Amino acid sequence: MAKLKTKFVCQKCGYSTARWIGKCPECESWNSFVEEIQDTSVSKKSKSIERKADSANILMLSGITETKEMRFSTGIDELDRVLGGGVVNGSIVLIGGDPGIGKSTLMLQISSKLHGKKFLYVSGEESAVQIKMRAERLGNIPENFYVLSETNLELIEAVIIQKEPDFIIVDSIQTVYRPELESAPGTVSQLRESTSKLINIGKTLNIPIFLVGHITKDGTIAGPKIIEHMVDVVLQFEGERTHLYRILRGIKNRFGSTNEIGIFEMTEKGLKEVPNPSEVFLSQRNYGASGCVISSSIEGTRPILIEIQALVSPTSYGFPQRTSMGFDLKRLNIIIAVLEKKLGIFLNKYDVFINVAGGVKVDEPAVDLAVAMSIYSSYKDVPVDSETIVLGEVGLAGEIRTISNIERRINESAKLGFKRILLPKNNLKYIDLKKYKIEITGVENIKEAQGKLI
Ligand code: TYD
Ligand code: MG
Repeated sequence: MAKLKTKFVCQKCGYSTARWIGKCPECESWNSFVEEIQDTSVSKKSKSIERKADSANILMLSGITETKEMRFSTGIDELDRVLGGGVVNGSIVLIGGDPGIGKSTLMLQISSKLHGKKFLYVSGEESAVQIKMRAERLGNIPENFYVLSETNLELIEAVIIQKEPDFIIVDSIQTVYRPELESAPGTVSQLRESTSKLINIGKTLNIPIFLVGHITKDGTIAGPKIIEHMVDVVLQFEGERTHLYRILRGIKNRFGSTNEIGIFEMTEKGLKEVPNPSEVFLSQRNYGASGCVISSSIEGTRPILIEIQALVSPTSYGFPQRTSMGFDLKRLNIIIAVLEKKLGIFLNKYDVFINVAGGVKVDEPAVDLAVAMSIYSSYKDVPVDSETIVLGEVGLAGEIRTISNIERRINESAKLGFKRILLPKNNLKYIDLKKYKIEITGVENIKEAQGKLI
Protein backbone atom coordinates (compact mmCIF):
# COMPACT_ATOMS: atom_id res chain seq x y z
CA MET A 1 0.00 0.00 0.00
CA ALA A 2 1.22 3.44 -0.83
CA LYS A 3 2.14 5.65 2.08
CA LEU A 4 -0.53 8.22 2.89
CA LYS A 5 0.49 11.78 2.25
CA THR A 6 -0.53 14.39 4.75
CA LYS A 7 -0.86 18.14 4.74
CA PHE A 8 -1.49 20.76 7.41
CA VAL A 9 -4.70 22.73 7.14
CA CYS A 10 -5.71 25.87 8.99
CA GLN A 11 -9.00 25.04 10.77
CA LYS A 12 -10.13 28.65 10.56
CA CYS A 13 -9.69 29.48 6.89
CA GLY A 14 -8.66 26.28 5.13
CA TYR A 15 -5.15 27.43 4.10
CA SER A 16 -2.91 24.41 3.67
CA THR A 17 0.84 23.88 3.84
CA ALA A 18 3.16 20.90 3.66
CA ARG A 19 4.69 21.56 7.06
CA TRP A 20 3.24 22.63 10.40
CA ILE A 21 3.40 26.34 11.11
CA GLY A 22 2.30 28.26 14.17
CA LYS A 23 0.60 31.22 12.57
CA CYS A 24 -1.58 31.16 9.51
CA PRO A 25 -0.27 33.55 6.83
CA GLU A 26 -3.78 33.85 5.41
CA CYS A 27 -6.06 34.62 8.37
CA GLU A 28 -3.32 35.29 10.95
CA SER A 29 -4.77 32.95 13.58
CA TRP A 30 -2.38 31.13 15.87
CA ASN A 31 -2.11 27.41 16.44
CA SER A 32 -4.84 26.58 13.98
CA PHE A 33 -3.03 23.99 11.85
CA VAL A 34 -4.07 20.34 12.04
CA GLU A 35 -2.66 17.46 10.08
CA GLU A 36 -5.04 15.98 7.52
CA ILE A 37 -4.73 13.08 5.13
CA GLN A 38 -4.12 14.12 1.56
CA ASP A 39 -5.60 11.19 -0.25
CA THR A 40 -6.16 11.86 -3.90
CA SER A 41 -5.81 8.41 -5.39
CA VAL A 42 -8.94 6.32 -5.95
CA SER A 43 -8.76 2.59 -5.29
CA LYS A 44 -9.07 0.36 -8.35
CA LYS A 45 -12.01 -1.98 -8.81
CA SER A 46 -11.14 -5.16 -6.97
CA LYS A 47 -12.69 -8.02 -5.02
CA SER A 48 -12.23 -6.30 -1.67
CA ILE A 49 -13.79 -3.10 -2.95
CA GLU A 50 -16.79 -5.06 -4.28
CA ARG A 51 -17.20 -6.72 -0.89
CA LYS A 52 -17.09 -3.41 0.92
CA ALA A 53 -19.66 -1.87 -1.40
CA ASP A 54 -21.97 -4.87 -1.06
CA SER A 55 -22.02 -4.58 2.70
CA ALA A 56 -23.02 -0.90 2.53
CA ASN A 57 -26.75 -0.25 2.40
CA ILE A 58 -27.34 1.61 -0.85
CA LEU A 59 -30.82 2.17 -2.28
CA MET A 60 -32.30 3.70 -5.41
CA LEU A 61 -34.23 6.80 -4.36
CA SER A 62 -36.92 5.95 -6.89
CA GLY A 63 -37.21 2.46 -5.48
CA ILE A 64 -38.16 3.58 -1.97
CA THR A 65 -41.90 3.15 -1.57
CA GLU A 66 -42.56 3.91 2.10
CA THR A 67 -42.47 7.70 2.12
CA LYS A 68 -45.15 8.72 4.59
CA GLU A 69 -43.78 9.14 8.06
CA MET A 70 -46.03 7.62 10.64
CA ARG A 71 -47.38 10.56 12.55
CA PHE A 72 -49.85 10.85 15.35
CA SER A 73 -51.41 13.84 17.00
CA THR A 74 -50.44 14.82 20.54
CA GLY A 75 -53.93 16.16 21.11
CA ILE A 76 -52.45 19.62 21.63
CA ASP A 77 -52.92 21.57 18.38
CA GLU A 78 -50.35 24.23 19.15
CA LEU A 79 -47.72 21.54 19.74
CA ASP A 80 -48.73 19.52 16.69
CA ARG A 81 -48.35 22.59 14.51
CA VAL A 82 -44.82 23.29 15.69
CA LEU A 83 -43.90 19.63 15.21
CA GLY A 84 -45.07 19.87 11.60
CA GLY A 85 -48.38 18.07 12.04
CA GLY A 86 -47.88 15.66 14.92
CA VAL A 87 -45.23 13.40 16.36
CA VAL A 88 -43.30 11.16 14.00
CA ASN A 89 -42.67 7.66 15.30
CA GLY A 90 -39.05 7.10 16.17
CA SER A 91 -38.29 10.82 16.16
CA ILE A 92 -36.18 12.47 18.82
CA VAL A 93 -37.39 15.88 19.95
CA LEU A 94 -35.39 18.18 22.17
CA ILE A 95 -37.38 20.77 24.05
CA GLY A 96 -35.42 23.53 25.71
CA GLY A 97 -36.33 26.48 27.87
CA ASP A 98 -35.54 28.37 31.05
CA PRO A 99 -36.25 26.65 34.36
CA GLY A 100 -39.85 27.12 35.46
CA ILE A 101 -41.16 27.96 32.01
CA GLY A 102 -43.39 24.88 31.87
CA LYS A 103 -41.51 22.15 30.02
CA SER A 104 -42.40 19.41 32.50
CA THR A 105 -45.98 20.62 32.60
CA LEU A 106 -46.29 20.45 28.81
CA MET A 107 -44.80 16.96 28.72
CA LEU A 108 -47.22 15.74 31.36
CA GLN A 109 -50.13 17.31 29.52
CA ILE A 110 -49.38 15.35 26.36
CA SER A 111 -49.89 12.17 28.32
CA SER A 112 -53.36 13.14 29.43
CA LYS A 113 -54.47 13.73 25.83
CA LEU A 114 -53.13 10.50 24.42
CA HIS A 115 -55.38 7.86 25.82
CA GLY A 116 -54.55 4.30 24.99
CA LYS A 117 -50.83 4.95 24.57
CA LYS A 118 -48.26 3.62 26.98
CA PHE A 119 -46.13 6.37 28.48
CA LEU A 120 -42.76 6.26 30.13
CA TYR A 121 -41.74 9.37 32.03
CA VAL A 122 -38.08 9.19 33.01
CA SER A 123 -37.48 11.81 35.65
CA GLY A 124 -34.08 12.72 36.94
CA GLU A 125 -35.23 15.99 38.43
CA GLU A 126 -38.41 15.30 40.32
CA SER A 127 -39.60 12.40 42.43
CA ALA A 128 -42.55 10.25 41.39
CA VAL A 129 -44.61 11.88 44.14
CA GLN A 130 -43.96 15.35 42.74
CA ILE A 131 -45.04 14.20 39.30
CA LYS A 132 -48.21 12.70 40.76
CA MET A 133 -48.92 15.98 42.55
CA ARG A 134 -48.52 17.91 39.32
CA ALA A 135 -50.78 15.49 37.46
CA GLU A 136 -53.41 15.96 40.17
CA ARG A 137 -53.10 19.71 39.79
CA LEU A 138 -53.65 19.34 36.07
CA GLY A 139 -56.77 17.40 36.92
CA ASN A 140 -56.04 14.26 35.01
CA ILE A 141 -54.26 11.14 36.13
CA PRO A 142 -53.36 9.28 32.98
CA GLU A 143 -53.55 5.51 32.90
CA ASN A 144 -50.76 3.51 31.28
CA PHE A 145 -48.28 5.99 32.66
CA TYR A 146 -45.02 4.71 34.06
CA VAL A 147 -42.81 6.95 36.12
CA LEU A 148 -39.17 6.05 36.36
CA SER A 149 -37.03 8.08 38.74
CA GLU A 150 -33.72 6.99 37.37
CA THR A 151 -30.73 8.59 35.75
CA ASN A 152 -28.61 5.57 34.87
CA LEU A 153 -29.10 5.06 31.15
CA GLU A 154 -28.33 1.35 31.33
CA LEU A 155 -31.33 0.80 33.63
CA ILE A 156 -33.49 3.18 31.60
CA GLU A 157 -32.75 1.18 28.48
CA ALA A 158 -33.65 -2.06 30.24
CA VAL A 159 -37.00 -0.62 31.36
CA ILE A 160 -37.74 0.62 27.84
CA ILE A 161 -37.09 -2.83 26.41
CA GLN A 162 -39.19 -4.50 29.10
CA LYS A 163 -42.20 -2.16 29.07
CA GLU A 164 -42.23 -1.29 25.36
CA PRO A 165 -43.79 2.17 25.82
CA ASP A 166 -45.33 4.12 22.92
CA PHE A 167 -43.95 7.43 24.08
CA ILE A 168 -40.90 8.32 26.14
CA ILE A 169 -40.11 11.53 27.97
CA VAL A 170 -36.69 12.12 29.48
CA ASP A 171 -36.76 15.02 31.92
CA SER A 172 -34.04 16.17 31.71
CA ILE A 173 -31.29 14.97 29.39
CA GLN A 174 -28.74 16.76 31.57
CA THR A 175 -29.40 14.40 34.48
CA VAL A 176 -29.00 11.16 32.53
CA TYR A 177 -25.63 9.43 32.48
CA ARG A 178 -23.93 6.41 31.01
CA PRO A 179 -22.11 4.47 33.72
CA GLU A 180 -19.37 3.45 31.26
CA LEU A 181 -18.12 7.02 31.18
CA GLU A 182 -16.23 8.52 34.06
CA SER A 183 -17.35 12.11 33.63
CA ALA A 184 -20.24 13.53 35.63
CA PRO A 185 -23.83 13.83 34.30
CA GLY A 186 -24.38 17.02 32.35
CA THR A 187 -20.86 17.20 30.98
CA VAL A 188 -20.34 17.43 27.25
CA SER A 189 -19.26 13.82 26.82
CA GLN A 190 -22.10 12.44 28.95
CA LEU A 191 -24.65 14.54 27.08
CA ARG A 192 -23.39 13.47 23.71
CA GLU A 193 -23.14 9.79 24.58
CA SER A 194 -26.49 9.65 26.40
CA THR A 195 -28.25 11.42 23.56
CA SER A 196 -26.75 9.17 20.92
CA LYS A 197 -27.74 6.11 22.95
CA LEU A 198 -31.31 7.37 23.30
CA ILE A 199 -31.47 8.18 19.59
CA ASN A 200 -30.32 4.68 18.90
CA ILE A 201 -33.02 3.21 21.16
CA GLY A 202 -35.74 5.41 19.70
CA LYS A 203 -34.85 4.67 16.09
CA THR A 204 -34.42 0.95 16.63
CA LEU A 205 -37.68 0.47 18.53
CA ASN A 206 -39.50 3.18 16.55
CA ILE A 207 -40.61 5.07 19.66
CA PRO A 208 -40.76 8.87 19.78
CA ILE A 209 -38.61 10.33 22.55
CA PHE A 210 -38.92 13.83 23.95
CA LEU A 211 -35.81 15.10 25.68
CA VAL A 212 -36.16 18.05 28.02
CA GLY A 213 -33.08 20.29 28.08
CA HIS A 214 -32.19 23.28 30.17
CA ILE A 215 -31.02 26.52 28.75
CA THR A 216 -27.94 28.33 29.91
CA LYS A 217 -27.91 32.03 30.72
CA ASP A 218 -26.81 32.98 27.22
CA GLY A 219 -29.83 31.29 25.72
CA THR A 220 -28.37 28.12 24.25
CA ILE A 221 -29.43 24.67 25.33
CA ALA A 222 -26.93 23.74 28.01
CA GLY A 223 -24.15 21.45 26.90
CA PRO A 224 -23.49 23.70 23.97
CA LYS A 225 -24.97 22.97 20.58
CA ILE A 226 -23.69 19.41 20.58
CA ILE A 227 -27.01 17.68 20.95
CA GLU A 228 -28.98 20.07 18.77
CA HIS A 229 -27.52 18.63 15.60
CA MET A 230 -28.02 15.02 16.69
CA VAL A 231 -31.76 15.14 17.29
CA ASP A 232 -34.55 15.46 14.70
CA VAL A 233 -36.44 18.37 16.16
CA VAL A 234 -35.39 21.20 18.47
CA LEU A 235 -38.12 23.22 20.11
CA GLN A 236 -37.68 26.18 22.38
CA PHE A 237 -40.13 27.19 25.04
CA GLU A 238 -39.92 30.95 25.55
CA GLY A 239 -41.55 33.69 27.52
CA GLU A 240 -41.05 35.63 30.70
CA ARG A 241 -41.75 33.47 33.70
CA THR A 242 -43.68 36.27 35.30
CA HIS A 243 -45.93 36.67 32.29
CA LEU A 244 -48.74 34.34 31.42
CA TYR A 245 -47.85 33.66 27.82
CA ARG A 246 -45.46 31.03 26.55
CA ILE A 247 -44.27 30.64 23.00
CA LEU A 248 -43.13 27.29 21.65
CA ARG A 249 -40.82 27.85 18.72
CA GLY A 250 -39.35 25.37 16.27
CA ILE A 251 -35.60 25.90 15.81
CA LYS A 252 -34.88 22.81 13.80
CA ASN A 253 -37.28 20.30 12.32
CA ARG A 254 -36.44 17.44 10.01
CA PHE A 255 -40.13 16.76 9.45
CA GLY A 256 -41.61 20.21 8.96
CA SER A 257 -41.14 23.93 8.83
CA THR A 258 -39.44 25.89 11.58
CA ASN A 259 -41.62 28.88 10.86
CA GLU A 260 -44.39 27.78 13.14
CA ILE A 261 -44.96 28.75 16.70
CA GLY A 262 -47.40 27.58 19.34
CA ILE A 263 -48.81 29.94 21.91
CA PHE A 264 -49.85 28.87 25.39
CA GLU A 265 -51.09 30.53 28.50
CA MET A 266 -49.97 29.28 31.92
CA THR A 267 -53.04 28.89 34.09
CA GLU A 268 -53.85 27.35 37.45
CA LYS A 269 -54.60 24.13 35.65
CA GLY A 270 -51.56 23.96 33.44
CA LEU A 271 -50.94 25.23 29.95
CA LYS A 272 -53.88 26.34 27.88
CA GLU A 273 -53.68 26.73 24.12
CA VAL A 274 -54.14 30.19 22.68
CA PRO A 275 -55.64 29.81 19.21
CA ASN A 276 -56.30 33.54 18.66
CA PRO A 277 -53.27 35.34 20.11
CA SER A 278 -54.09 38.85 18.84
CA GLU A 279 -57.23 39.08 20.90
CA VAL A 280 -55.37 37.97 23.98
CA PHE A 281 -52.45 40.35 23.56
CA LEU A 282 -54.81 43.25 23.03
CA SER A 283 -57.24 42.31 25.77
CA GLN A 284 -55.93 44.79 28.30
CA ARG A 285 -55.49 47.78 26.05
CA ASN A 286 -55.49 51.35 27.20
CA TYR A 287 -57.80 53.29 24.97
CA GLY A 288 -56.84 56.89 24.51
CA ALA A 289 -53.60 56.76 26.50
CA SER A 290 -50.58 58.47 25.03
CA GLY A 291 -47.58 56.34 24.12
CA CYS A 292 -49.60 53.29 23.07
CA VAL A 293 -49.58 52.13 19.45
CA ILE A 294 -50.88 48.87 17.97
CA SER A 295 -48.75 47.09 15.43
CA SER A 296 -48.53 43.65 13.89
CA SER A 297 -45.74 41.16 14.12
CA ILE A 298 -45.43 37.90 12.23
CA GLU A 299 -44.78 35.05 14.61
CA GLY A 300 -44.05 31.94 12.62
CA THR A 301 -46.61 32.13 9.86
CA ARG A 302 -49.25 33.86 11.96
CA PRO A 303 -49.74 37.60 12.26
CA ILE A 304 -50.14 38.78 15.84
CA LEU A 305 -51.34 42.20 16.83
CA ILE A 306 -49.39 43.68 19.68
CA GLU A 307 -49.46 46.84 21.69
CA ILE A 308 -46.24 48.87 21.85
CA GLN A 309 -46.03 51.13 24.86
CA ALA A 310 -43.57 53.97 25.31
CA LEU A 311 -42.91 56.17 28.29
CA VAL A 312 -40.83 59.30 27.78
CA SER A 313 -40.11 61.15 31.01
CA PRO A 314 -37.55 63.77 32.11
CA THR A 315 -34.34 62.12 33.28
CA SER A 316 -33.26 62.55 36.86
CA TYR A 317 -29.64 61.46 36.35
CA GLY A 318 -26.81 62.85 34.34
CA PHE A 319 -27.47 60.73 31.30
CA PRO A 320 -30.79 59.50 29.94
CA GLN A 321 -31.87 55.87 30.24
CA ARG A 322 -32.97 53.74 27.30
CA THR A 323 -34.77 50.61 28.44
CA SER A 324 -36.64 48.14 26.33
CA MET A 325 -38.67 45.02 27.09
CA GLY A 326 -39.41 42.87 24.08
CA PHE A 327 -37.75 45.12 21.51
CA ASP A 328 -34.10 45.34 20.47
CA LEU A 329 -32.26 48.11 22.31
CA LYS A 330 -29.94 48.91 19.40
CA ARG A 331 -32.90 49.48 17.11
CA LEU A 332 -34.50 51.63 19.77
CA ASN A 333 -31.41 53.85 19.83
CA ILE A 334 -31.47 54.17 16.05
CA ILE A 335 -35.15 55.09 16.08
CA ILE A 336 -34.55 57.74 18.74
CA ALA A 337 -31.76 59.23 16.62
CA VAL A 338 -34.02 59.31 13.56
CA LEU A 339 -36.82 60.97 15.58
CA GLU A 340 -34.43 63.65 16.77
CA LYS A 341 -33.11 64.35 13.31
CA LYS A 342 -36.35 64.17 11.35
CA LEU A 343 -39.02 65.32 13.76
CA GLY A 344 -36.90 67.81 15.66
CA ILE A 345 -37.59 66.51 19.14
CA PHE A 346 -34.66 66.26 21.53
CA LEU A 347 -34.64 63.34 23.89
CA ASN A 348 -31.22 63.79 25.48
CA LYS A 349 -32.84 65.00 28.69
CA TYR A 350 -35.50 62.28 28.68
CA ASP A 351 -35.57 58.63 29.69
CA VAL A 352 -37.22 56.40 27.10
CA PHE A 353 -38.84 53.12 28.11
CA ILE A 354 -40.38 50.70 25.62
CA ASN A 355 -42.53 47.74 26.49
CA VAL A 356 -44.25 45.22 24.26
CA ALA A 357 -47.39 44.42 26.21
CA GLY A 358 -48.02 40.83 27.23
CA GLY A 359 -44.35 39.87 27.51
CA VAL A 360 -43.95 39.14 23.80
CA LYS A 361 -40.60 39.62 22.09
CA VAL A 362 -40.62 41.10 18.61
CA ASP A 363 -37.58 40.98 16.45
CA GLU A 364 -38.70 42.25 13.11
CA PRO A 365 -38.30 45.75 11.70
CA ALA A 366 -41.99 45.97 10.72
CA VAL A 367 -42.81 47.37 14.17
CA ASP A 368 -40.19 50.18 13.96
CA LEU A 369 -42.69 52.83 12.96
CA ALA A 370 -45.03 51.87 15.78
CA VAL A 371 -42.14 52.20 18.25
CA ALA A 372 -41.21 55.60 16.80
CA MET A 373 -44.80 56.83 16.95
CA SER A 374 -45.32 55.58 20.50
CA ILE A 375 -42.24 57.53 21.62
CA TYR A 376 -43.44 60.66 19.85
CA SER A 377 -46.93 60.24 21.26
CA SER A 378 -45.63 59.88 24.81
CA TYR A 379 -43.23 62.80 24.40
CA LYS A 380 -46.01 65.09 23.19
CA ASP A 381 -48.51 63.43 25.55
CA VAL A 382 -50.98 63.16 22.70
CA PRO A 383 -52.64 59.78 22.11
CA VAL A 384 -52.58 57.95 18.77
CA ASP A 385 -55.97 56.90 17.43
CA SER A 386 -56.66 53.54 19.06
CA GLU A 387 -58.39 52.19 15.94
CA THR A 388 -55.24 52.47 13.81
CA ILE A 389 -52.59 49.84 13.17
CA VAL A 390 -49.09 51.19 12.43
CA LEU A 391 -46.64 49.24 10.29
CA GLY A 392 -43.30 49.92 8.64
CA GLU A 393 -39.55 49.69 8.93
CA VAL A 394 -37.80 52.97 9.69
CA GLY A 395 -34.66 53.66 7.64
CA LEU A 396 -31.82 55.91 8.77
CA ALA A 397 -32.96 58.69 6.45
CA GLY A 398 -36.39 58.60 8.05
CA GLU A 399 -37.91 56.75 5.09
CA ILE A 400 -40.51 54.06 5.71
CA ARG A 401 -39.35 50.86 4.09
CA THR A 402 -41.33 47.96 2.66
CA ILE A 403 -42.24 45.10 4.97
CA SER A 404 -43.08 41.46 4.34
CA ASN A 405 -46.34 39.51 4.72
CA ILE A 406 -48.43 42.62 4.27
CA GLU A 407 -51.67 40.92 3.25
CA ARG A 408 -51.72 38.67 6.27
CA ARG A 409 -51.21 41.62 8.56
CA ILE A 410 -53.99 43.60 6.90
CA ASN A 411 -56.38 40.65 7.14
CA GLU A 412 -55.67 40.15 10.82
CA SER A 413 -56.18 43.88 11.53
CA ALA A 414 -59.47 43.91 9.64
CA LYS A 415 -60.61 40.71 11.34
CA LEU A 416 -60.18 42.29 14.75
CA GLY A 417 -62.20 45.32 13.79
CA PHE A 418 -59.55 47.99 13.33
CA LYS A 419 -60.61 50.93 11.15
CA ARG A 420 -57.37 52.13 9.65
CA ILE A 421 -53.92 50.85 8.82
CA LEU A 422 -50.84 52.93 8.17
CA LEU A 423 -48.19 51.17 6.11
CA PRO A 424 -45.20 51.81 3.82
CA LYS A 425 -46.23 53.47 0.57
CA ASN A 426 -44.12 51.03 -1.44
CA ASN A 427 -46.20 48.15 -0.13
CA LEU A 428 -49.31 49.65 -1.77
CA LYS A 429 -48.08 48.54 -5.20
CA TYR A 430 -48.65 44.93 -4.32
CA ILE A 431 -52.03 45.10 -2.68
CA ASP A 432 -55.52 45.35 -4.03
CA LEU A 433 -57.08 48.12 -1.96
CA LYS A 434 -60.62 47.28 -3.02
CA LYS A 435 -60.31 43.84 -1.46
CA TYR A 436 -60.24 45.16 2.09
CA LYS A 437 -62.87 46.85 4.22
CA ILE A 438 -60.19 48.55 6.32
CA GLU A 439 -58.91 52.02 5.32
CA ILE A 440 -55.35 51.72 4.08
CA THR A 441 -52.95 54.68 4.04
CA GLY A 442 -49.44 54.56 2.62
CA VAL A 443 -46.69 56.75 4.06
CA GLU A 444 -43.26 57.54 2.68
CA ASN A 445 -41.40 58.92 5.62
CA ILE A 446 -41.58 59.35 9.35
CA LYS A 447 -42.66 63.01 9.10
CA GLU A 448 -45.64 62.07 6.96
CA ALA A 449 -46.57 59.25 9.35
CA GLN A 450 -46.45 61.62 12.30
CA GLY A 451 -48.61 64.13 10.45
CA LYS A 452 -51.24 61.47 9.80
CA LEU A 453 -51.25 60.07 13.32
CA ILE A 454 -50.57 62.74 15.90
P1 TYD B 1 -42.55 23.37 35.13
O1 TYD B 1 -43.28 22.57 34.13
O2 TYD B 1 -42.10 22.69 36.37
O3 TYD B 1 -41.29 24.08 34.46
P2 TYD B 1 -39.94 23.47 33.89
O4 TYD B 1 -40.09 22.00 33.79
O5 TYD B 1 -39.78 24.14 32.55
O6 TYD B 1 -38.87 23.89 34.81
O7 TYD B 1 -43.50 24.61 35.45
C1 TYD B 1 -43.21 25.39 36.49
C2 TYD B 1 -44.06 26.59 36.67
O8 TYD B 1 -45.36 26.54 36.18
C3 TYD B 1 -44.18 26.75 38.16
O9 TYD B 1 -43.61 27.99 38.49
C4 TYD B 1 -45.61 26.67 38.47
C5 TYD B 1 -46.29 26.91 37.18
N1 TYD B 1 -47.52 26.11 37.03
C6 TYD B 1 -48.74 26.77 36.94
O10 TYD B 1 -48.83 27.98 37.00
N2 TYD B 1 -49.88 26.01 36.75
C7 TYD B 1 -49.85 24.66 36.71
O11 TYD B 1 -50.90 24.02 36.55
C8 TYD B 1 -48.57 24.01 36.80
C9 TYD B 1 -48.48 22.51 36.76
C10 TYD B 1 -47.45 24.77 36.96
MG1 MG C 1 -39.07 20.53 34.88
